[in-house]
Amino acid sequence: MNKTYPVAANEPVLNYAPGSPERESLRNELAAQKNVCREIPAVVNGERVFGATATAVRAPHEHDRVLANLYHADQKTVQAAVDGALAAQREWSSWSLQERSAVFLKAADLLAGPWRARLNAATMLGQSKTAYQAEIDSACELIDFLRFNVQFAHEIAQMQPQNSAGVRNRSEYRPLEGFVYAVTPFNFTAIGGNLAIAPALMGNSVLWKPAATAALSNYMFMELLEAAGLPKGVINFVPGDAIEISNIALSHPELAGVHFTGSTAVFDTMWSEVGRNVARYRSYPRLVGETGGKDFVLAHPSADAEALAVGLLRGAFEYQGQKCSAASRAYIPASLWPVVKARLVAMVDTIKMGDVCDFSNFMGAVIDRRAFDRIRGYIYRAREDANADVLVGGKCEDRTGYFIEPTVIEVKDPRHALMQNEIFGPVLSVYVYQDAEWDEVLKLVDGTSPYALTGAVFATERAAILQAQQALRFAAGNFYINDKPTGAVVGQQPFGGARRSGTNDKAGSALNLLRWVSPRTVKETSA
Ligand code: ALA
Repeated sequence: MNKTYPVAANEPVLNYAPGSPERESLRNELAAQKNVCREIPAVVNGERVFGATATAVRAPHEHDRVLANLYHADQKTVQAAVDGALAAQREWSSWSLQERSAVFLKAADLLAGPWRARLNAATMLGQSKTAYQAEIDSACELIDFLRFNVQFAHEIAQMQPQNSAGVRNRSEYRPLEGFVYAVTPFNFTAIGGNLAIAPALMGNSVLWKPAATAALSNYMFMELLEAAGLPKGVINFVPGDAIEISNIALSHPELAGVHFTGSTAVFDTMWSEVGRNVARYRSYPRLVGETGGKDFVLAHPSADAEALAVGLLRGAFEYQGQKCSAASRAYIPASLWPVVKARLVAMVDTIKMGDVCDFSNFMGAVIDRRAFDRIRGYIYRAREDANADVLVGGKCEDRTGYFIEPTVIEVKDPRHALMQNEIFGPVLSVYVYQDAEWDEVLKLVDGTSPYALTGAVFATERAAILQAQQALRFAAGNFYINDKPTGAVVGQQPFGGARRSGTNDKAGSALNLLRWVSPRTVKETSA
């Protein structure tokens, strides 16, 4: 059937091979951006506001290099941003879906074209992503969000009730009444962008609080949206003190929703704040959050050892393990372990880590000093622990940047803290089980961690796959069979998890966009 609305296709991943034009333009952008210190203000109703306080945005792999000064929005600015958002929404929500879609489709085209290298370079420098990791994030995933959201929004518009004799019924997908507060993480430029654009596409206006450590790329995306014709005030960019901004946003009577990605602890606090303020709001706010993870890789004795070792390596160490989806706890049968261990250790030994502007590096630095100290703490404690054995890696070096070697730790106790806590760094904890304990290990995987974001099972026996799929039904919102648990593609694997990993409102699907509408049902009876 021919669709009457734009049907999206995934943006192809460019490979940045030596001599390719994309490599050349990315290099030029990196060289240019590296040597400029940008001034990043708040953007309130289209106006630039430079607050009195500023912090330095640094390259994590070269922490003496200041890439930008980030000006904090003070209370007055945040209040003005909320007022601007509320004023802008009156006009914006009267635009048709087609008109709103045109802005985001234009943004996608700009990003696929002239802005691609710019945004990738900002993501590489500011968040220490390699060219490939930037490409799949700030180019492909963000372009996909822009285009697929438009498709999903049109699919939603076509969800209509039945009519009956003399009665016409209609669902009208109104935006929420009020503003949406988007609080976004450092680890994906695409997630930052999507948390703001998904509600905006549905006719909402947004107060966007970016992570300071992703401000370079996030601000550039804000500029891109403006270049694509997003009206003033629809998205207001307010960097600054998270508690101060949240205090204003979450106590505002017109708060219509929260779109969050970040830690479980912060989301808990925000949820409590909303609870405390609940009687003040005009409407019950929508709370949509993607939070922590302790993502598993479970191998069955029938697993392909090579595929498993590669899945572990990529799942655990790409982007320094700082994906909420990263493989973090692995359960390997004793019969497979010697060969998987040898392969894993050999591959880890060949990993190159360093400045992401050197395209031969597979890993950059972790995001900042706080992350470095936290991850190093886990590794140091493991070294002292008789129940943990650091098999490879473990060196932490912060002279020029926040570098932590890819680290594999074998633990004797499946309930060890290393198997339960979210470390959010390049640390893979492994528990080796006896082959005959497969049934028990399924229970362990399900019951050890409070999170349920992603997980992977490796097996070649169909019965084992089916058994794991059933036993781990609630252990992951994204379940991978014979693949690493990272790298969900918009339009292919809608993303999100439940339990303490969030509200599972699947980013990259119509389910997420449904949270940003407040439908009105209209019944018209023939006169
Ligand atoms: N959506 C990201 C992934 O799947 C977090 O890796």
